[in-house]
Amino acid sequence: MNIKPLKLNPEYDILVTGGAGFIGSNLCAALLENGNTVRCLDNFATGKRENIESQLENTNFELLEGDIRNLSDCIKACEGVDYVLHQAALGSVPRSIKDPITSNAVNVSGFLNMLVAARDAKVKRFVYAASSSTYGDSENMPKVEDIIGKPLSPYAITKYVNELYADIFAKIYGMETIGLRYFNVFGRRQDPNGAYAAVIPKFVMHLMNHESPVINGDGSYSRDFTYIDNVLEMNVRALASDNKEAINTVYNVAYGERTDLNELICLLKEYLSNFDPEIANVNATYGPKRQGDVPHSLASIEKAKNLLGYDPQFDIKIGLKEAVNWYWENLK
Ligand SMILES: NC(=O)c1ccc[n+]([C@@H]2O[C@H](COP(=O)([O-])OP(=O)(O)OC[C@H]3O[C@@H](n4cnc5c(N)ncnc54)[C@H](O)[C@@H]3O)[C@@H](O)[C@H]2O)c1
Repeated sequence: MNIKPLKLNPEYDILVTGGAGFIGSNLCAALLENGNTVRCLDNFATGKRENIESQLENTNFELLEGDIRNLSDCIKACEGVDYVLHQAALGSVPRSIKDPITSNAVNVSGFLNMLVAARDAKVKRFVYAASSSTYGDSENMPKVEDIIGKPLSPYAITKYVNELYADIFAKIYGMETIGLRYFNVFGRRQDPNGAYAAVIPKFVMHLMNHESPVINGDGSYSRDFTYIDNVLEMNVRALASDNKEAINTVYNVAYGERTDLNELICLLKEYLSNFDPEIANVNATYGPKRQGDVPHSLASIEKAKNLLGYDPQFDIKIGLKEAVNWYWENLK
């Protein structure tokens, strides 16, 4: 995505943690294209070298292989940077249910290390990946930032704790922080493989291989699926905003519409069958509901629109077409 219209000063040096992951690698690419100097801190726990391979020759890009659980790695990573876009974490609700200790170590202790390192390096602003999972069991729809429920998984707890720490660091140490509650992000480079793969790339891979995608539940669960380029836009707006009322708070990052899993499968089949007509005949199968899953998720994006001027350009259909093209070209 070209972020130039958002007028981010290309002089800024920016640290992207988790920069070899799905969202992080897209951030690195967009910032480098804008002319910024980018440092990527990653331990490749879930990120991939191939996601940043094409940047390694770029003299504005620096890869720091390290772990946010080590404070010394975080200190090194923050040295001399203007801004931090903190994406490194262990995602996935099921992963956190299977191994809450590791999710907590990375997502909570690692987050705290990054806050301390960013504070001590006097970075201008710390923008971090929060999560829609923080809404937990709240039945309020659409989700507005101030009304949350009780967390439904260890992962959700870790992401909520991030928000609490960021708030305290703003209040006690005068740091500038902004949390971005991402809602089911999808797009190029999202990993389709492994037990904890997200639903869109997993379904795409199954359909491309003429295998039935397995839906957990009856397919009526819905999500505010958010294309990666909308997420890039919000990160840049959060980083660059000079509106003092817009900082030290959290924002929903979504498109503001929801799609259920049955509709999602229909759209994917439609777009993929442009490449291979036989995909139109592949049908989904249905399995048990997953623990920790909320039935529906839909964001209000009014706060981001009002305070940051967020204006998402990619609805689910445009995003899915782009994503499907990318998977077909790169992974088929
Ligand atoms: N993808 C989504 O829909 C979504 C939704 C809500 C929140 N988020 C959050 O957004 C962020 C990015 O998610 P993503 O989808 O790109 O996931 P990802 O797994 O592709 O990226 C995470 C990156 O963090 C790195 N990492 C993990 N542990 C680390 C450690 N100890 N030290 C250094 N690096 C480490 C991984 O190697 C990976 O490159 C995460 O914080 C995630 O919780 C994502």
